[in-house]
Amino acid sequence: MRLLVTGGAGYIGSVVVARLLEEGHDVTVLDDLSKGHRDAVPAGARFIQGRIHDAALVIEGAGFEVVVHLAASSLVGESVEHPAKYEENNVLGTARLCNAMQTLGVNKIIVSSTAAVYGVPDVAIITEETETAPVNPYGSSKLTIDNDLALRTQAGEFAAISLRYFNVAGAYGSFGERHRPETHLIPTALEVAMGQRASLTIFGDDFPTPDGTCVRDYIHVLDIANAHVLAMAALEIGQHDIVNLGNGSGFSVQGVVEAVRNVTGHSVPTEIGPRRAGDPGVLVTSNERARAHLGWIPEHPDVTTMVDDAWRFVQERGA
Ligand code: UFG
Repeated sequence: MRLLVTGGAGYIGSVVVARLLEEGHDVTVLDDLSKGHRDAVPAGARFIQGRIHDAALVIEGAGFEVVVHLAASSLVGESVEHPAKYEENNVLGTARLCNAMQTLGVNKIIVSSTAAVYGVPDVAIITEETETAPVNPYGSSKLTIDNDLALRTQAGEFAAISLRYFNVAGAYGSFGERHRPETHLIPTALEVAMGQRASLTIFGDDFPTPDGTCVRDYIHVLDIANAHVLAMAALEIGQHDIVNLGNGSGFSVQGVVEAVRNVTGHSVPTEIGPRRAGDPGVLVTSNERARAHLGWIPEHPDVTTMVDDAWRFVQERGA
């Protein structure tokens, strides 16, 4: 199929594009390179540098059948400091993109959503039925987008699937995480292992979890990309489906650090710091709907595999 992938120069986007190309799709990437990297766009994809707000210029006459929309601002902390940026880039940008699609006759979209829409849930295992109650502007912007997609699909000739990612990790071939500055747990711990940072600060050890540190549902970026490949076949006009993507099991921060020590053979010193604002203690999702609606089966559920792949990636890049 002829596809437009927004954000295809980013971490997750580059892996999604790589998998779509492997499946034989014709892919055009639209990315403004505000966070992504030109050399992260897999060979074989067409590249256009630009904003999703101007997507009409790219869509007109191009014959796209589906848009895979990953372009977004996605840092929780930044969203608290700069909520207007999240309103502008995520909410308004996505509305412009969808308006352009509908005006120009492209009626299918797969959109990146997030666990952050659930806020601080009081259930052990989240499902798509769990109440949405975001606690930061990032989660709120993604929930607004999901709600807007529901209205657009109810109103007529439009199909949408929101994929709500939990904690994405790992690498695929030459595509991996290259954020500057890095804030995510696994790449930050790998920077400590490489001697680029003295130690890792663990944000709180007084959570109601077995070892007191936060528990997250880590999901391999290749499994995330495969969900996008499968979602393509699940799009139905008039339907907006919401699907959580996780493994259904949690790892604590201490557990992840232990995996990093085992994989790298380095000591990875840690220190305990205060809790980070807005961090829920536990975020783990059921993946029953993903299995039922998409036929998705996560193939790399072990956090050690994710750390192993990420470690190989940073070593190969010498980053
Ligand atoms: N953590 C540390 N020290 C660090 C970095 C992280 O202890 O230096 C902890 C965090 O407190 C958290 C866990 O490691 O408990 C994972 O943190 P990340 O920053 O790697 O990921 P988040 O869970 O904060 O964020 C992810 C996605 C967001 C999404 C969010 C939903 O990256 O896009 O899940 O909750 F919004």
